[in-house]
Amino acid sequence: MMESMVRADEGSEETLELPRPDDWHVHFRDGAEMEAVAHHTARVFGRALVMPNLRPPVTTVAAALAYRERILAAVRRRGGAAARFFPVMTLYLTEESDPREIDRAAATEGLVRAVKLYPAGATTNAEMGVQSVERVFRVLERMEKQGVVLCVHGEVSDRRVDVFDREAVFVERVLAPLVARFPGLKVVLEHVTTAEGVAFVQETPPTVAATITAHHLLYSRNALFEGGVRPHFYCLPVLKRERHREALLAAAVGGSGKFFLGSDSAPHPRSRKEGECGCAGCFTAHAALPLYAEAFASVGALGALRGFASEFGARFYGFPVSEERVRLVRRSWEVPVSYDYLPGDPLIPLRAGERLEWFVEVGDDGA
Ligand code: DOR
Ligand code: ZN
Repeated sequence: MMESMVRADEGSEETLELPRPDDWHVHFRDGAEMEAVAHHTARVFGRALVMPNLRPPVTTVAAALAYRERILAAVRRRGGAAARFFPVMTLYLTEESDPREIDRAAATEGLVRAVKLYPAGATTNAEMGVQSVERVFRVLERMEKQGVVLCVHGEVSDRRVDVFDREAVFVERVLAPLVARFPGLKVVLEHVTTAEGVAFVQETPPTVAATITAHHLLYSRNALFEGGVRPHFYCLPVLKRERHREALLAAAVGGSGKFFLGSDSAPHPRSRKEGECGCAGCFTAHAALPLYAEAFASVGALGALRGFASEFGARFYGFPVSEERVRLVRRSWEVPVSYDYLPGDPLIPLRAGERLEWFVEVGDDGA
């Protein structure tokens, strides 16, 4: 459905052509759920770093590679650009993780590239995560040696700490000492949400980077309470004050190679989001790049999207920048009110039923 439209010149305010981007943090789930969502990411992004918080979690290279094959089978059925999608897998770190698993990951030549540290109980399916980082030092040492990346959910899970302070406290109590102890370890502070997190990443050596989500660039915590409780804006780390959003946006558009795109698109069925105790996670994969474009354009910095979305993450993870191209065009479209997900239990996307201003053309997918 190639709509007719008047195209402005390339590089104008109305279009932006960029190398096919990568999403360095996404949740696909598994089975029917994965089949329902993976194509949204695979259509636009050349690669994505796939999070391992399944039930049971993906703790071994064998499990990660089998999961990868299931993702590939699903996206190949879609054809077009999605069929060329390259999933990059992560392992879920537990206190029982074996350092030899790191050697196996390193031997996959980029298929399994990172290990995810969830503080135990910090978020969805984080129960098997790490209670005390000292207990995983042997694994971290091996990762440092092998060049395997550590992706960190940067929040303490201590209930006594205010939920809005958990990232800043984690950075000070856990992350700073960890980075000092393992200076060669590549570390990504995932979905950074605070000015303190941004400052930490800026002050540390190039081994330390961060992903930033589109929803944390677009919304402050006010969005959670706009006219009532808004469960589809609830994610972890939770949205913060406006001044933090501004710090994130400044970092994202600032041209530093330390900050790159990680959508943290995290699907949950409607019944799990809108219940008495709703799950954390915003589904954004249907519109990830348009949402980032909206955020960048809001400060007149659309051109900075190229590095953030297509170059810096690839460089950090040791992949070439894509030779394929996608084109963002200023063409309004309406987000569906829901997507099919589980039988009788749909997925409510961010901005459901609203219009977005940016659309992605991918060349050979006929979209
Ligand atoms: O909001 C979130 N959802 N944050 C996370 O850390 C996990 C994710 C999920 O898996 O649903
Ligand atoms: Zn996540």
